[in-house]
Amino acid sequence: MNDKLALPVGTTLDRFIMRKQEDFPYATGELSQLLRDIALASKIVNREINRAGLLGITGAYGQQNVQGEEQQKLDVIANIRFIRALRNGGEVCTIISEEEDEIIQTGNTRGKYIVAMDPLDGSSNIDVNVSIGTIFSVYRRTSEAGSDGTEKDCLQSGTKQIAAGYIIYGSSTMMVYTTGNGVNGFTYEPSLGEFFLSHPDITTPKAGTIYSCNEGHVNSFSEGIRKYLRYCQDNNYSARYIGSLVADFHRNLLKGGIYIYPSTTKSPNGKLRLMYECNTLAFIIEQAGGKATDGCNRIMEMEPAELHQRCPLIIGSSEMVDKAVEFLREEAAAERTVGAATKEMLR
Ligand code: AHG
Ligand code: MN
Ligand code: MN
Repeated sequence: MNDKLALPVGTTLDRFIMRKQEDFPYATGELSQLLRDIALASKIVNREINRAGLLGITGAYGQQNVQGEEQQKLDVIANIRFIRALRNGGEVCTIISEEEDEIIQTGNTRGKYIVAMDPLDGSSNIDVNVSIGTIFSVYRRTSEAGSDGTEKDCLQSGTKQIAAGYIIYGSSTMMVYTTGNGVNGFTYEPSLGEFFLSHPDITTPKAGTIYSCNEGHVNSFSEGIRKYLRYCQDNNYSARYIGSLVADFHRNLLKGGIYIYPSTTKSPNGKLRLMYECNTLAFIIEQAGGKATDGCNRIMEMEPAELHQRCPLIIGSSEMVDKAVEFLREEAAAERTVGAATKEMLR
């Protein structure tokens, strides 16, 4: 038989999840089911995105979300699809979503898990055919099973994540996730309706030559960030900024690079959300060998106080993140010196 005539198609996401589960003899299969539910919803959302222009579901929905941002029709559709899949799956008791003001109870009071999600990231790019994504984190509830999950169950630090991932709807659709044992990427084969393992054991380069930041806001960045951006330019790094966090992150993860969404004078906590964006990507980048910080603190160790809390984000290749932090430390030290000198003068 000539094997070349019928090459194997590879490992499906389902089989991969099942094999991983076998590594944990006491695993009940609930997390595996949850990941499969997310993959299923993502296939449906992928279909809607691909047909969006024809179905008339591009454009604004006409309402703002809790964060005062204009909701797109696909934001709302993705939110419904993921919630429905998780509700029907039965493993999740409570969901928090960037698109919902309050926590969402699925009615599965025996469910062990909490999911935090950004159902559609980069939604301002929908109408112009640019890559967008879905971001999700899974936590174990801390309250007893048998009743609804609580806000406290949802407000856990990133270190408590038991799984995190994203789906990127790009030139091809991919799902990338970690359960704390490395990062794996799967590419969707639309004609078969399956995700296949295409990027096993992703590690991010220690350093790269890409920096991603919305430099249009440079005048409202701190001196330390401005100096670091100048350092990137002096070193001839390439500026790459799509404006879809998932897409910018995914490129930098594979090629090596740094993504920065810093605090600005108008938004001291930046724009990105700790629970729906920063924690998830921080878990993934750390599992791939990179780093994530808000400039002072490791993102994963931040204690969330509110569901929709924002935080500055510096994420990517470890040496690049270290360098950016160095500039921020110098700035803080310079400010302390000026502060001390002023105090001395006022004595
Ligand atoms: P979302 O579409 O989920 O609200 O997220 C948008 C985010 C993120 O995807 C992106 O990196 C960032 O907003 C872009 O913000 P700026 O336009 O301020 O650069
Ligand atoms: Mn987002
Ligand atoms: Mn979003």
